[in-house]
Amino acid sequence: MLALRLALVTAASVAPAIATAQTATSADTVALSIDVSKPGAKIDRNIFGQFAEHLGTGIYEGVWVGPDSPIPNTRGIRNDVVAALKAIKVPNVRWPGGCFADEYHWRKGIGKTRPATLNPNWGGVIEPNTFGTHEFMDFIGQIGSEAYLSVNIGSGTPQEAAEWLEYLTTDQPTALAIERTANGHPAPYKIPYLGLGNESWDCGGNMTAEYYTRQMTIYSRFVRNFNPAQRDTGKMLRIAVGPGGGESRWTDWTDTVMKAWQGHQWSWDMEGLSLHNYTVIKWPPAYASVGFGEKEYAEILQKTLEMDGLIAKHSAIMDKYDPQKKIALVVDEWGAWYAKLPGSPEGFLAQQNSQRDAVLAALNINIFARRADRVRMANIAQMVNVLQAMILTNKEKMVLTPTYHVFKMYVPFQDATFVPVTFDAGTYTQGTITLPRVDAIAARDAAGTVWMAVTNVDPNRPATITASVAGLTPRAAAGQTLTAPRVDSVNTFEAPTTVAPKPIAARVQGGTVTLSVEPRSVTVISLQP
Ligand code: AHR
Repeated sequence: MLALRLALVTAASVAPAIATAQTATSADTVALSIDVSKPGAKIDRNIFGQFAEHLGTGIYEGVWVGPDSPIPNTRGIRNDVVAALKAIKVPNVRWPGGCFADEYHWRKGIGKTRPATLNPNWGGVIEPNTFGTHEFMDFIGQIGSEAYLSVNIGSGTPQEAAEWLEYLTTDQPTALAIERTANGHPAPYKIPYLGLGNESWDCGGNMTAEYYTRQMTIYSRFVRNFNPAQRDTGKMLRIAVGPGGGESRWTDWTDTVMKAWQGHQWSWDMEGLSLHNYTVIKWPPAYASVGFGEKEYAEILQKTLEMDGLIAKHSAIMDKYDPQKKIALVVDEWGAWYAKLPGSPEGFLAQQNSQRDAVLAALNINIFARRADRVRMANIAQMVNVLQAMILTNKEKMVLTPTYHVFKMYVPFQDATFVPVTFDAGTYTQGTITLPRVDAIAARDAAGTVWMAVTNVDPNRPATITASVAGLTPRAAAGQTLTAPRVDSVNTFEAPTTVAPKPIAARVQGGTVTLSVEPRSVTVISLQP
């Protein structure tokens, strides 16, 4: 009895959409009820966004090798990385930072002669500026993505940022557009997303909420997008710096910015508020990304589930000033932050990526999907070689991480409509930690196919999943599952497919889908009518 109560309480606190509890048919069976007659919000494809900062080998080596490199590349950008990213349909890439953005001066990254500067935030290494504005725009063009630029509010000026946007977007023959043409790009670029600073309460300048809001409104006013193709539709969305936690310092920050927005004049506006939340225990990050046990697995997953409460807290403040949910909550830095890999340079934030991270990624995406009415964009940190990366590279070698596979399996959820799923999650207990044993979301895509994602958090027990769909009789079900021999299994350059998705069979009988999911697994299946 106590176990069942715990299951219901925990599941409800993690998953607000799991409103009613079903009675599990047996200890190892979780019955999902999907209701397509009650569609929710669109799961914006932008919640699958990436973050690529000039940090460690995230850009240099991870993306950019230069046109003269023996590593196969197109105009200096690695072909293997481009092909892998194309396959996960990256909707947007946030660049150039992070903390780096508030010390970035875009003029140093254009033209034939690029000065070497420093990267004081991340190891104090030389920033060669060989990867600049044009190279970034080329890169996102190659992977079929869109630009989310962060402008420098910390150490830059409104004029510098305004000129960057004019350089990028005007189709008029201004001096800046002529310079852009001379640098190889006559057509204006599209910039759909603009970040107004980064962590301005900390590395972005230690500002108070009031001071930041004054600065931000000036940038919002003057940093214009002139691209005629973005004048009426596809207008650039401006994302203000938001909170970095749940304490009163952060709730006050959200309150201050949102209050200012509610009373704003015609002369400035914003369309998004950011939220940064890493899964990290202890600071500086001390948990290892490899060679850990079940205790650390459970602790990290418990920590990551705090994302839901954090979003709920800040959404409630936003609702006060913006009940129509015009302002998106943009979780533009999230993911696991572990201790640096032994032997890796200070400030490079190099870590491995295990099956634990695959489960962690699925749990967070599920949270964003359930809160899709407010969370309309998110960016995992970071895309290549840094923190919870999709891809790791070492010279000519590349390996796809377990997190990459989750992003690929979830592609059908991009822009699909959320549909509610009710279930009794059951419990998984490790020491003093009790977590929901299973998590699940469902969505319907534009073609009418219903997709279901099931995460079995329990690292020891498989689970039998049954799914019935009100309003649809599934006749076939097919999908993929991702599991691994251990919670700390990783892919390496020598063994790149230890963690790789494989097909999963599901039985369909009388409209009910039944499948068995392995321990510590993420499964995505489609239900065909
Ligand atoms: O992603 C690494 C860093 O974490 C970013 O530069 C910064 O915004 C955050 O503190």
